[in-house]
This record gives sequence, structure tokens and C-alpha cells, in this order.
Amino acid sequence: MNVKKIIKEKILFISIVCFFFVIVSCSDKKEPPESRFTTLYNGTFKPNCLSCHAPGNDVYDNSGVKLDFTTKELAYSTLTTKNSASPSNQYCRDIPYASARDVNNSYLLAVLISTYNTTNYASKVNCVPYNVHLLDQNLSQTEKDSIVAWINEGAGI
Ligand code: HEC
Repeated sequence: MNVKKIIKEKILFISIVCFFFVIVSCSDKKEPPESRFTTLYNGTFKPNCLSCHAPGNDVYDNSGVKLDFTTKELAYSTLTTKNSASPSNQYCRDIPYASARDVNNSYLLAVLISTYNTTNYASKVNCVPYNVHLLDQNLSQTEKDSIVAWINEGAGI
């Protein structure tokens, strides 16, 4: 057999093998991992908060607290664009619920995590943040850490 022919066949064989590897590795592409906010929405906000914080409920319709956990998009937009408005904590009004990279100016943290539930939170004189959710929500340490990390990472969707 002539050497050139053998080399040609080998090259052809190797090319075909490579081609298949490329196809297999492409078709095996995994979905990108879900975002932190998606995990938080599906695992924490939707199951724990939606029953009260949505239009049609007393808190939304009558207390002026415009948090809406109906969908991930609404949860995100209300958390990142609305400010605290609770009538029962009048000195804590107008604090953003979630400010990117600012854990001391994110009322969501003050309401859910005791270490942030401090007097004069967000430099609001006499502000004593709503503390009922520290007990009735009682989120796990992992959930709390994830909410803090979400803020610190820039509060993306
Ligand atoms: C059983 C109903 C209920 C559930 C469930 C609930 N909340 Fe609330 N939430 C309330 C009420 C009532 C208030 C106080 C409203 C007021 O002061 O008039 C409140 C207040 C808040 C506030 C402060 C709002 C403001 O503008 O001052 C935040 C933030 C909040 N809740 C977030 C959450 C999150 C996040 C969850 C889920 C982990 C949750 N809530 C679950 C009823 C609920």
C-alpha cells in the first residue's frame, strides 16, 4: 500500500472523529444556570410572600405597600423601583426596597433579617423597621444570605 494513501486515510479518519466530537459537544450544551433572582423568586418570594403582597390583598390595596410578587418580573420591578410606604412605620418611609450594592439602604433586608433591623436604618431618624416578618417569615440562613448576596452583586434580574 502506498504511504500517501495511508496518511490520507488517517487524516480523513481523524477529521471525521473530530467532527463528531464537535457535534456531540455542541448538542450537549447545558442551559445557563438560573439567575440568583430567579432562584430567590421561585424558592422564597413566590411561596412565602405572594399570598399577601399582590393587588387584591389588603396590604397592597389599602396600606400603600406596592410590592407585587405575582410574577418574577413584577417582583423584580417593584422591589427595585418602589420605596417603603408602610403606614405603621411612618419614620421608615421612602427607603428603597432593594438598592444595588447598598445593604444599608435596602428596606427588604431590614424587614427580613434581624442584623439589618436597626433603629435609624438608612439614616432615617427614629425609623424602627417593621419587625413582624423576622418571626412570621423566619427565612433560613441560606435564604437570608442569598438575598444579601443578590443586593451586593448588583440586584440583577
Ligand atoms: C400574611 C401576610 C404577609 C406575608 C405572607 C408577607 N407579608 Fe410582608 N407585610 C405584610 C403586612 C401586613 C405588612 C405591613 C403593612 C403595614 O405596615 O401596613 C408587610 C410589610 C412588608 C414590608 C415593608 C413594606 C413597607 O413599605 O413598609 C416588606 C418589605 C415586606 N412586607 C416584604 C415581605 C416579603 C419579602 C415577604 C415574603 C418573604 C412577605 N412580606 C410576606 C403582610 C405579609
